[in-house]
Amino acid sequence: MTLSIAIAGKGGTGKTTLSALLVRALREAGIRPILAVDADPNSPLAAARGVEEGKPLADIREQGSSPEGSPPSGVGRVRAVDDEIQRAIVEADGFDLVTMGRPEGPRCYCYVNTLLRRSLDELSRNYAAVVLDNEAGMEHLSRRTTNDVDFLVAVMDPALPALRAVKRILTLCDELPVRIGHRIVLVNRLRPGGVAGQIDRELAALSAQRLADVPQDDDVERAGALGQDVFSLDGQTPALLAVNKIVEALHVIHS
Ligand SMILES: Nc1ncnc2c1ncn2[C@@H]1O[C@H](COP(=O)(O)OP(=O)(O)O)[C@@H](O)[C@H]1O
Ligand SMILES: [Mg+2]
Repeated sequence: MTLSIAIAGKGGTGKTTLSALLVRALREAGIRPILAVDADPNSPLAAARGVEEGKPLADIREQGSSPEGSPPSGVGRVRAVDDEIQRAIVEADGFDLVTMGRPEGPRCYCYVNTLLRRSLDELSRNYAAVVLDNEAGMEHLSRRTTNDVDFLVAVMDPALPALRAVKRILTLCDELPVRIGHRIVLVNRLRPGGVAGQIDRELAALSAQRLADVPQDDDVERAGALGQDVFSLDGQTPALLAVNKIVEALHVIHS
């Protein structure tokens, strides 16, 4: 049974970094193959994972919805979307990457989105784990371009604006057209002091599990600033050790 994880949260809190660390931790836990879905419109995940990005699926939607570019029959269209998805997959070391691109353009892509979701759903079944890096607004989840997820991980840094974003995300979960198995809140870049006490109290009152916090990690910060991927980081780096713990916990909950 595929383990599916969607990452959401305010911009800059570490979603892309954490989804890349999650992919690395899953891979090192022997959970393979892994599909990484980059739903950020700027598609930075490819860089974070040290691979060239493929053709964004938004291009597929554009083609699929243009009268001259689409095959005449419904069956043909389904096949065309399937073929495009196959072409959009970029193979990396131990995981595959697919880039979603923009969730919406000038036209309505509802029909093509439905096909896309079905194809992604089928594709996901071939993987032991799927990690979806959402953009801040959770557009893909709320527009149903993605499927049900086992774990929605709401990421925040230890600051009140990010906490408010997490609360909004958890509220939105109730209204989403996708099924969310478990809600996880992940505090990233944790360091002593600040508003930690207030955050602890407020998080304890939310309907989400806090499996482990990820510390502020200078190696991760340096790698980010240099545009390096997290796969080159030392295996003992504190952020990775924390993410390993989270993966262990997710695995236990899921099985
Ligand atoms: N645990 C961490 N320790 C130090 N720096 C981090 C950590 N997590 C993320 N960062 C840094 O924070 C910045 C924003 O992270 P990013 O993953 O791009 O956020 P998002 O995808 O949510 O916008 C990056 O420069 C990244 O290197
Ligand atoms: Mg990002």
